[in-house]
Amino acid sequence: MMGRTASLFLLKPADCSGLVNKSYDRISGTYDDTWTCHMRDLTESFIRRLDPRPGDVCVDLACGTGFATNLITEKTQNTVVGVDRSEGMLAQGRTHRGDHCRFVRADILEYLKEQDSSSIDIVTCCWGLGYSKPFAVLRQIKRILKPAGKVAIIDNSLFSLREILYCSFLAFAEQPEKLRHLMRFQFLPGSRTLGVIFRLLKIKPVYLADGSRSYTAASGAAAIDRLRATGAAAGFEYACAEDDAEQIFQRFAEILEEKYLTANGVVVTHRYLAGIGHK
Ligand SMILES: C[S@@+](CC[C@H](N)C(=O)[O-])C[C@H]1O[C@@H](n2cnc3c(N)ncnc32)[C@H](O)[C@@H]1O
Repeated sequence: MMGRTASLFLLKPADCSGLVNKSYDRISGTYDDTWTCHMRDLTESFIRRLDPRPGDVCVDLACGTGFATNLITEKTQNTVVGVDRSEGMLAQGRTHRGDHCRFVRADILEYLKEQDSSSIDIVTCCWGLGYSKPFAVLRQIKRILKPAGKVAIIDNSLFSLREILYCSFLAFAEQPEKLRHLMRFQFLPGSRTLGVIFRLLKIKPVYLADGSRSYTAASGAAAIDRLRATGAAAGFEYACAEDDAEQIFQRFAEILEEKYLTANGVVVTHRYLAGIGHK
């Protein structure tokens, strides 16, 4: 297993971005009822803390279906640009969010590179930074922010779903030949790392926090179904060939139950980090 993992990592880096996109396109229709609903209050209180003001010019990166984008428009009464790469997610946003949301299909880093320096009051990125290159993205954000502009990041941390990752590793360790793609994401370990990046880029951290959110799924299979529906397994669901998926996921579910089944079911914990900085 280690040899196979190493060779995939070193010799054949997966095009994670294409697989992540495929996952989000697939789940876009149910995303708001699963992930947004599950994390709604965290995103809401984070945007309240950020405190966008009427007239602020804002960009919401990795906006998905536009939940945060819409919250920000309500506060600024101004058009907010939401940027995402998944056409499926953006289509939901265009259908369900208010007129002040303007959705753009683009890779967030490429989008940022095309923006004028010192032109934006607030840049947010909710639950999507780790899919891109955090340092490069934050450097571009710093560049496009006006003096005293604000950046706000909330995201899964690196070992957010560590119990789940461990069980998926065990499932593939039994059949390493079935591992096709190793996902290479750049989720940050925690808010301290975000704070270090802020300081390196001369962004002043005004808020840094870590937290977690758990729910209980009735069984291992139910836990995996929910992870796949929320996007939390984005990309991972294509780790093996389609023909092998059912068998691998079944074994994954069994291992989850062997390791983590409680009287109430399987507990799934998301760990996250959040930070706000001023230019
Ligand atoms: C967990 S969703 C978050 C959506 C939204 N911000 C929210 O709070 O509900 C992550 C989003 O990041 C988008 N994404 C991932 N990598 C991206 C990239 N490099 N450029 C643009 N969007 C990206 C996905 O398409 C997906 O919509």
